[in-house]
Amino acid sequence: MHPNPAIPRAPRVTLAEAAALLRAGQVCAFPTETVYGLGGDATNADAVLSIYETKGRPRFNPLIMHCADLAMAQTLAKFSPLALRLATLWPGSLTLVLPARPGNGLADVATAGLDTVGLRVPNHPLALELLRAVNRPLAGPSANPSGKLSPTTAEQVIIGFAGTVPVLDGGPCQAGVESTIIRVDGDRLIQLRAGALARGDIEQALGVTIELAEADAAITAPGMLSSHYAPNALMRLNAEPRAGEAYLGFGPAPGFDGVMRNLSKTGDLREAARNLFAMLHELDAAQVGTIAVAPIPHYGLGEAINDRLERAAAPRG
Ligand code: TXA
Ligand code: MG
Repeated sequence: MHPNPAIPRAPRVTLAEAAALLRAGQVCAFPTETVYGLGGDATNADAVLSIYETKGRPRFNPLIMHCADLAMAQTLAKFSPLALRLATLWPGSLTLVLPARPGNGLADVATAGLDTVGLRVPNHPLALELLRAVNRPLAGPSANPSGKLSPTTAEQVIIGFAGTVPVLDGGPCQAGVESTIIRVDGDRLIQLRAGALARGDIEQALGVTIELAEADAAITAPGMLSSHYAPNALMRLNAEPRAGEAYLGFGPAPGFDGVMRNLSKTGDLREAARNLFAMLHELDAAQVGTIAVAPIPHYGLGEAINDRLERAAAPRG
């Protein structure tokens, strides 16, 4: 039998293949500890445009630059002593928004023409190995079509893009929600997006205070678009399940006949964050009209989980 050209080739690639694709200006999905990223050379405008095109993003948004280490990040942005203190949490699920270094070589389409830049060093061995092999910053939004759920496995990336995007498979993501984004503005720290590193944990680890961005702040991050992390089903939050719905539980769950997942039977927020997108994907695959979601506490990682759930439940534009 000869290969059928109508069937796309298996999109999984090796690390060497992924690095070669990225160095050649192609896009390639890669694992991080938060979610899978759709990578492209951040210094190559065509590569960055391919990212937007692949995702079908409605407009250009500033992307996160993934760096192999602090030294690479320092070629892109100016680090104040306070920024350097935050960078001690790298590699990790923390994105810093800092003043851009003039002439840093980043494509304007990657920073959306802003004079600030979002940076992080991901805490995933394959991602770090890939970044060292490519030896360039990688722009990497989550590897999902715009407006859909963020992928936490290579399989979800393959399904999301119907096998058209090459993927470096690094197994399931440990954190399961995107990085926490903090803007360093002089001596102020402003959280632009709640994420996998809880605000309170950063404050405690470093002895700093982090403000919350005002809801109507002029900085619009794509993560701040109201309907951004949407499954196909409608969502009902802080709810008990009704007949015909799917149910996403948390902690001890009520008896329920329908399709059901539990984010964490023991009420562990870390486990819940890790399961969030994968379980929403699974419930969505059951093609129910509505997913009812149990109340989730708001402390610690609950801030990021509730944020993603509220976006997933937001009216669709
Ligand atoms: O965990 C993550 O952060 C994942 C993985 C793949 O690393 N990436 C991710 O990237 O979520 P993305 O592009 O979907 O989200 C980037 C967020 C957006 O909300 C964007 O507006 C914000 O970072 N951002 C980037 N640069 C910024 C800047 N200069 N000012 C304000 N927000 C910025
Ligand atoms: Mg995203």
